[in-house]
Amino acid sequence: MRPGRLIIKGGCRPVGKVEISGAKNAALPLLMATLLAKGEHRISNVPDVTDVHTAKKLLEVLGAKATFSDQTMTIDTTALSQTKAPDEIVRQMRASILALGPLLARFGEAEAAMPGGCAIGERPVNIHLDGLSALGAMIGVEKGYIRAKANRLAGARIRLDFPTVTGTENLMMAATLARGKTIIENAAQEPEIVDLSSALNAMGAQISGAGTEQIKIEGVRELHPLQDYEVMGDRVEAGTFLIAAAATRGDLLLERANSEYLIATTALLRQAGAVIEADPAARTIRVKGPERLKSIHVVTAPYPGFPTDLQAQMMAAVTTANGRSTIREEIFENRLMQVKEMQKMGAAITVRGNMAEVNGLASSLRGSEVRAMDLRASASLIILGMMAEGTTEITGIEHLDRGYERIEQKLAAVGVDISRLDIS
Ligand code: EPU
Repeated sequence: MRPGRLIIKGGCRPVGKVEISGAKNAALPLLMATLLAKGEHRISNVPDVTDVHTAKKLLEVLGAKATFSDQTMTIDTTALSQTKAPDEIVRQMRASILALGPLLARFGEAEAAMPGGCAIGERPVNIHLDGLSALGAMIGVEKGYIRAKANRLAGARIRLDFPTVTGTENLMMAATLARGKTIIENAAQEPEIVDLSSALNAMGAQISGAGTEQIKIEGVRELHPLQDYEVMGDRVEAGTFLIAAAATRGDLLLERANSEYLIATTALLRQAGAVIEADPAARTIRVKGPERLKSIHVVTAPYPGFPTDLQAQMMAAVTTANGRSTIREEIFENRLMQVKEMQKMGAAITVRGNMAEVNGLASSLRGSEVRAMDLRASASLIILGMMAEGTTEITGIEHLDRGYERIEQKLAAVGVDISRLDIS
């Protein structure tokens, strides 16, 4: 896949149906969970995005055999040949750290390159490592690699300093094969944690409480392969389309979308004037954007709060709202870097610390050349390009491809004038 650049002509109203893909952030831990049990695993509704290909590469480096077609990944983890997640893969994808817990639990040892800071912040993994230590692992850091060892992990009561999502997932996976009971307190409650817990239970684990702040895991001796498990729908992708339609007077029907995971987002969009009708049983959400959005106040928070992964997209939407909006980023320290690019396009945004003020009355959006700096920021620039007058060119599309499956095809199918130019 060649990243290239995206060309968007502003002013189109998206109208029609969009099918939501499987969730990247649910698929990645599920793929790593296959390391826990030898045999052939099959997972469906896996999104065809770069991060998934990177996860597949990691599984292959570890000795697994994997095939991926039609959104189904088959992984044979019978003959793993090493327990080290190398630096060149961790550098491409921080979520590679999710291999640490499963490898340690199954083989008694694991190594992973220490993930560095990234575009959205420092992102340490101290909580993952403290949790693994609490389960009895010896942890060391040497030459940029985390080395973990344990004969067999032992269940423990662990209280997380912050409800880290991948930290909770790593510890949950590690504890499935530990001796005795583990209790994770102040656990992340994201729907992706619930999806992982269901998959692990389908493999023979005994986990309860996922989706609440206390998760209990009764360790078992062995797990069996995951058979025909379907990854949950991507709530961030669904939220991105909801916001895009709300900002552009669009009218979209999202299919395979779980509205129950988007309560904070739909509440804010309704407050801003969008009309949203959700049918949880049919897994559809209909959104209609108003002539002009009203200003809102957004604060990101761990689930069930408003997700940091939709913060940049919501910022784009309110750049032309009928007043001043505020957006406070509480999860990552450096996740407002889309602002500079948005300003180039005429958005009236000022930033103080982790707070942005967006003056919808002072913005005058025009198409420009902008650069995407991270995955969700790239989606926000697409939305802004749809709202602006004229043509927007977005480079840095490799970030977009990490987590959005066929986004420009999906947008083009509902009438957005968007195309990819193959030269970067
Ligand atoms: N944190 C620590 N120590 C740790 C772990 C986290 O201080 O050991 C801090 C982080 O630095 C951050 C905060 O805790 O400030 C929250 O980070 P968290 O660990 O929850 O994030 P993550 O697990 O690394 C996942 C998603 C992110 C999403 C965040 C927050 C995956 C693979 N990634 O990351 O997704 O933004 O949770 O919801 O699930 C994306 O998809 O664009 C993306 C970045």
